[in-house]
Amino acid sequence: MRTIIEPFRIKMTESIKLLSRDERIEALKKARYNVFLLDAEDCCIDLLTDSGTGAMSTEQWAAMMVSDESYAGSKSWKKFEAAVYEITGMKHILPTHQGRAAEGILAQTRVKEGDIVPNNSHFDTTRANMEYVGGKALDFLCPEGYELGLDAPFKGNMDVEKLEACIKENNTEKIPFCMITVTNNTGGGQPVSMGNIRTVKSVLDQYGIPLVIDACRFAENAYFIRERETGYKEKSLLEISRELCSYAGAASMSGKKDGMANTGGFMVCNDDRWAEGFKNLLILREGFPTYGGLAGRDLEIIAVGLMEALEYDYQVYRHATVEYLGKKLGLMGVPFVQPVGGHAVFLDAKEFLPHIPPLQYPGIGLVNALYIEGGVRSVELGSVMFGRIDEDGNEIPSPLELTRLAFPRRVYTQSHFDFLAEVIEAVWKEREKISGYRITYQPEVLRHFMCHFEPLS
Ligand code: F0G
Repeated sequence: MRTIIEPFRIKMTESIKLLSRDERIEALKKARYNVFLLDAEDCCIDLLTDSGTGAMSTEQWAAMMVSDESYAGSKSWKKFEAAVYEITGMKHILPTHQGRAAEGILAQTRVKEGDIVPNNSHFDTTRANMEYVGGKALDFLCPEGYELGLDAPFKGNMDVEKLEACIKENNTEKIPFCMITVTNNTGGGQPVSMGNIRTVKSVLDQYGIPLVIDACRFAENAYFIRERETGYKEKSLLEISRELCSYAGAASMSGKKDGMANTGGFMVCNDDRWAEGFKNLLILREGFPTYGGLAGRDLEIIAVGLMEALEYDYQVYRHATVEYLGKKLGLMGVPFVQPVGGHAVFLDAKEFLPHIPPLQYPGIGLVNALYIEGGVRSVELGSVMFGRIDEDGNEIPSPLELTRLAFPRRVYTQSHFDFLAEVIEAVWKEREKISGYRITYQPEVLRHFMCHFEPLS
């Protein structure tokens, strides 16, 4: 058969409703034009994030029921540890309450004031954690990654030349580790090839710099490697993931993505000294090292979820849903990052709204237009999230202005995507009428979550 079906059936539902256009306009105004401040029940299709928003399987619900809530050394911890070990092969496994806690511990234990942390692209919380302790978070994404309309298989790859130049320019003591984010969330959910990871690893080895994987979407990345890279067709996603981790000395993970869980995360590493430092902070901030801020039931859910994310049929279906929307948008002529990513479709807000300059935040213009048109909640990945202030206090825009439509796992069906395509088409047709925004309030750290906007006309 040509039709790819959802490899599951649904036995529990959650109602959603579409407010009237006037109600949506009012809700957005009340939220100071920042969709993070909307009430979730006022969003009809919520594509704000794929993080912690997935539906659990019967196996996960069942696992919750047999959870062991002992403080130390619980049976649930053992299952969690075994699953994480099976995938990563790493010696030390430390659960955390979510991905950013793992990043925070990594930054606080390994990064000093003035240190440099290279990455293909840091996610916002990763960057913030590195910078919070005085580090400099540098992105070395391959040039194709910035060509949004270019159809290339591994646009999340690290620019190895730039990485090597950076290492040569700086004292290697100042580079405590190098990160690679799979898939590259900030650059369109694009995958990283095994070949690129291998090359990065061999460069780092020459200078004695460890590689740390941001593994949030490791299973989606493994699927892309299997489909697009020579030599992986016959391998299972588990084998691919294991190989990927074998090149790293450590990894941070958010269980809210390819852990298929509503919360949780972990840090893994091979180095005993790193583990010692992580454990000390873990006990201080998260909890005893066999639960790390999670309930036994969360550990159970992640142990099952990690393996479900590696099921080939699930990844085929997941990718088909993203492609389905991508094909529809392609026919409409809507600009978006090509090829579609693993977990989301990223609209190119710069091209979509060329009349809005970067510092009037075209990504926000598009996010808010999608909400008003159809109650669709998306998120800006552009100058609000990634812009920065230079030494003279000038705001420097982000190189990319994207609006991300992130797909929660196993949640929405084909008709939801048809509706979404209709909403985007309606916004596309009326795009000249969309205005830019200005910021009226912003906090110092991670401003996009809580800032307030005002439309410019
Ligand atoms: N790294 C990447 C690549 C991420 O996408 C995220 C979260 C994190 C780290 C942090 O994990 O949320 O568990 O603390 N991304 C979510 C998103 C929030 O919407 O893309 P966390």
